Amino acid sequence: MTAKQTWDSHSYQRDTGFVAKYGEDVLSWLKPQSGERILDLGCGDGVLTKQIMSSDALVVGVDASESFVISARASGINAHVVDAHALEFDSEFDAVFSNAALHWMLEPEKVVEGVKRALKPGGRFVAEFGGFGNVAAVTTAMKAVGVQMDGDLSLASPWFFPTVNQYAGILTDHGFRVDDITSFYRPTVLPNGMRSWLQVMRAPFFEQYGTRADEAYEKVEAALIPTLCDNNGQWIADYVRLRFAARLM
Ligand SMILES: C[S@@+](CC[C@H](N)C(=O)[O-])C[C@H]1O[C@@H](n2cnc3c(N)ncnc32)[C@H](O)[C@@H]1O
Repeated sequence: MTAKQTWDSHSYQRDTGFVAKYGEDVLSWLKPQSGERILDLGCGDGVLTKQIMSSDALVVGVDASESFVISARASGINAHVVDAHALEFDSEFDAVFSNAALHWMLEPEKVVEGVKRALKPGGRFVAEFGGFGNVAAVTTAMKAVGVQMDGDLSLASPWFFPTVNQYAGILTDHGFRVDDITSFYRPTVLPNGMRSWLQVMRAPFFEQYGTRADEAYEKVEAALIPTLCDNNGQWIADYVRLRFAARLM
């Protein structure tokens, strides 16, 4: 099962281009080597995938969003529409990489099982995604507005944000050795404000209100100003990241 989502490459790069930018740091954990076969899981429109390719690794990108896969292919990436819960690769990758995608996948055991199957023995699984407490203020505000406006609260926070212990347990249960795993608070500047972030990441919550969607956006923003907007009007989201490097034993 996958969280309900909507993606558009133009608004993704314009309003949340920092997602791939921050992901560059995770590549230093992956250390792609020339000639390695690497799977980018939830590759999106492929900005980071291209960077992995620049190391002369042979990269395959998979993503559930058809529009993102079309954009990725247009930039020369070997990308495919695939649900990460149903990976069919068999012992063919030296490494699986993922940035900012695993929290959208709501059955992590199925995903990790598929990653395990996709890797060669000794293969690496390196990823970063939302950790426990990620965007807690934002989702609390959305739920409060959802109660006021009699909405479907499950659309406010559909994600899987595990603790370090929870995710390390899933990895070890599937035969991985966890070499490094950490969770950290990463206040994240939203260059185009909170509304554009909400529109990219959580449109389904607001769309449920039809002609009252603007009212819902205004209420959520008003609730968040004291916590996430500084004196200069700069929005800073309360991101928590979980990053790990694991190896298939
Ligand atoms: C925030 S984007 C990150 C994209 C890219 N990795 C990056 O760093 O820019 C999350 C991605 O996860 C993908 N995704 C979500 N659920 C998925 C699933 N079940 N299978 C494959 N991809 C999925 C989305 O389509 C989206 O491209």
